[in-house]
Amino acid sequence: MPAGGILILDYGSQYTQLIARRIREQHVFSEIVPCGITGRQILEKQPKGIILSGGPSSVNEPDAPGIDPDVLDLPIPILGICYGLQLMTLRYGGKVHTVGSGEYGVAEIEIRNPDVIFRNVSSSTRVWMSHRDRVESVPEGWNILAETTNRVIAAVSNADDTRLGIQFHPEVVHTPEGETILRNFLFRIAQCSADWTPGNFIQEQVEIIRRRVGHRKVLVGVSGGVDSTVTASLLNRAIGDQAIAVMIDHGLLRKNEAADCVTALRDGLGVNIHLYDQSDIFLSRLTNIEDPEKKRKIIGEQFIRSFEQVSRQFCDVDFLAQGTLYPDVIESGVNAGRGTAAVIKSHHNVGGLPDKMDLDLIEPLRDLFKDEVRNVGRELGLPESLIGRHPFPGPGLAVRILGPVTLERLEILRAADDIYLRGLHEEGLYREIWQAFAVLLPIRTVGVMGDQRTYDNVALRAVTSTDGMTADWYPLPNRVLRTLSSRIVNSVDGVNRVVMDITSKPPGTIEWE
Ligand code: XMP
Repeated sequence: MPAGGILILDYGSQYTQLIARRIREQHVFSEIVPCGITGRQILEKQPKGIILSGGPSSVNEPDAPGIDPDVLDLPIPILGICYGLQLMTLRYGGKVHTVGSGEYGVAEIEIRNPDVIFRNVSSSTRVWMSHRDRVESVPEGWNILAETTNRVIAAVSNADDTRLGIQFHPEVVHTPEGETILRNFLFRIAQCSADWTPGNFIQEQVEIIRRRVGHRKVLVGVSGGVDSTVTASLLNRAIGDQAIAVMIDHGLLRKNEAADCVTALRDGLGVNIHLYDQSDIFLSRLTNIEDPEKKRKIIGEQFIRSFEQVSRQFCDVDFLAQGTLYPDVIESGVNAGRGTAAVIKSHHNVGGLPDKMDLDLIEPLRDLFKDEVRNVGRELGLPESLIGRHPFPGPGLAVRILGPVTLERLEILRAADDIYLRGLHEEGLYREIWQAFAVLLPIRTVGVMGDQRTYDNVALRAVTSTDGMTADWYPLPNRVLRTLSSRIVNSVDGVNRVVMDITSKPPGTIEWE
């Protein structure tokens, strides 16, 4: 962690990641750590401020997660949110009452002290509450800064305002003045500087990579997606041709995807990239395979084999770089309290490679969220067509062809998918959508076009989401649907029917298999 950021101790709230994002939106670095971190470990990271997140537990339960007493003695400002507030209240000598029912939803708070954390906030403002317990009495010498209209203590601070607690969630959109409240903590109380920018990030990473790699060589696996593309161009910026980018075309990419990616990286940015067409071998191994999990397994295994094989020619390589992002790191363990163990990003399908090939991992994006990666990519000069690209699964079109994968079916799907996406670009809708794609169905319905009978069916999917964990279907205008459907049916040989998937996640998943 770069010095000067905010450390968030995670007590298990569903909003912890959101707190980190909101802070980074203010150009201040923030990192989530397990709540068991010690005071000494915190000092090593040199944060300017600490936030204790919310959480599902009650501080009055015997096995409720606690806090290292040394943390509370640190000369660093601490803001407790919800559970964090209650924990501090208890540890500094106040009382927390466990209420049976709790309070969830929008509440109105009245500000008693318009300075400190409420500077520039309206005297009465809406906030989002989500808690079971509430503060009954504040520690000695502490002040009540705000209360809800039904007299629940909503914000407190100690005498010198270095310990603050709020009962509501400033990070969610339902707290309209939440941004001002967070900014007050960051810039007035913790004295952070707003210098966490893509430009600074690149400069810092370039230095780190140069120092670590020296004169040695790094292999970069490129999948065509945003994360690995940005990783490859960052490595190129740091060490030029010492970074060797390798792209395996498994033949399951979208139309022109491999070529576009290579052109942008090689011609646009001078990245030393090598493209290997391995589609024959992937396709032959997928012959007659219908089960999606089998498809995934075969593709994953073959990817490792192909990658190993083509990398052999670069014999004096010491590192493997890949585009692991912060959400992958968090999922791998912070919330489970297991620490931030390195994960191999599954969709790069290189799981097991560093072990087998005896390579050290370089993951320059492991502190970043997706939107931050996109900003870094823009700063590095990658074209918008690559940066704004929707997520794409590692097994590619194989999981969007329901039933067996054949060259012919791949061509049908590619053509339909291309028409669909080009249509969304034309209408200016592509960027509003998190993920859009066509699926080739295994059912066959009869249609007659001219004198020929046709059978194939295509489903279109378009969803909005922030992280792919939940998603809502995107309501494409009827006019657009009509155009897309007739274009697909009229120009893709064999397709006679187009259907639209209008299912959210949950209960559906984004992909069909
Ligand atoms: P689901 O279908 O699980 O998708 O709602 C959530 C996100 O994950 C992507 N996805 C995959 N990515 N390998 C990947 O690399 C896979 O096997 C895979 N399956 C789903 C999906 O595209 C969506 O963004």
